Amino acid sequence: MMLISAAKAIELLQRGEVVAIPTETVYGLAADARNELAIAKIYATKQRPANNPLIVHIASMAQVADWASEFPPLAQTLAQAFWPGPLTLVLPARAEVSATVRAGEPTVALRVPAHPVALALLNESGLGLAAPSANKYTQLSPTTAEHVTSGLGQDVPVLEGGACQVGIESTIVSVHGDDWQLLRPGMIDAEMIAAVAGKLPTQPTADTPKAPGQHLLHYSPRTPCLLFESKSAMRHYAASKPAAAALLFGDEQPVTLTDVYLPNDPAHAAERLYAALHTLDAAQAEVILIESPPATPAWDALRDRLQRAAYQLHDQND
Ligand code: TXA
Ligand code: MG
Repeated sequence: MMLISAAKAIELLQRGEVVAIPTETVYGLAADARNELAIAKIYATKQRPANNPLIVHIASMAQVADWASEFPPLAQTLAQAFWPGPLTLVLPARAEVSATVRAGEPTVALRVPAHPVALALLNESGLGLAAPSANKYTQLSPTTAEHVTSGLGQDVPVLEGGACQVGIESTIVSVHGDDWQLLRPGMIDAEMIAAVAGKLPTQPTADTPKAPGQHLLHYSPRTPCLLFESKSAMRHYAASKPAAAALLFGDEQPVTLTDVYLPNDPAHAAERLYAALHTLDAAQAEVILIESPPATPAWDALRDRLQRAAYQLHDQND
């Protein structure tokens, strides 16, 4: 692993290199958001299609005006409530924001991360950092420095910041005028946003920006995954699949020879979700059986990630 100091990370970023950095959600693959060559290195390292825009990480709310042409009161209210933290706001972009970062969209995605190492880096470098999750396209997101290296290789420098405490990617909210829409669920759930916004999200229209990275096959282990709505259905299936592994919530009642258990509350389960999937993937099972978490708002983001992880078996050709 190529672990580097914060000073070295700043030097590399200012020179237009990419550096993997910790955030409270997942590790990001960061580069100077105003440097076209540096941005191109992100897309190349991730093998990410150019039509999938990047989130720009900034040090504080005061920097929004450097990137967004509008900062509506509703967006300010959300930023005040949730920044620094796992909320990304999609706002109309200033004309000079790199079209590569925006992937040609008229909007820019902004977030102030809550991780102290990331915040110090943003403050000390003075840069806005474009940073998608530090994994190859469609693969599992990293929540440790080891995950970054095992996914992207030894040559990617990593700034160590421990295991990510939120554990899944930020909630993405698009704000236009007085309206908001949820583009990607995260641990700040729709009910929490509605409570602060004082209003429910509007229904998507033709004008609603999409989160273009939200294709179904995403966040995937290499091992095929299969989602089950009940433990009994899972147990039944496992009986005929001796080489299966399983991801389960709550009580430790064995289902396969390779079970990984996540806590029965959403925040702790999210914190450990990707590490559990990395572990299960490394077990080289024939299939990973996944118990679906409850269909309640607090579990929405986990359900979303698990549905995407399991998508490949349902339709290989999509
Ligand atoms: O928690 C996170 O958000 C992590 C950490 C590193 O901050 N980052 C992350 O980045 O998850 P990434 O690239 O894996 O996902 C960013 C998502 C993509 O689905 C992308 O389509 C969407 O944000 N996005 C970025 N800019 C957008 C825009 N202008 N309009 C709509 N969606 C946008
Ligand atoms: Mg990602």
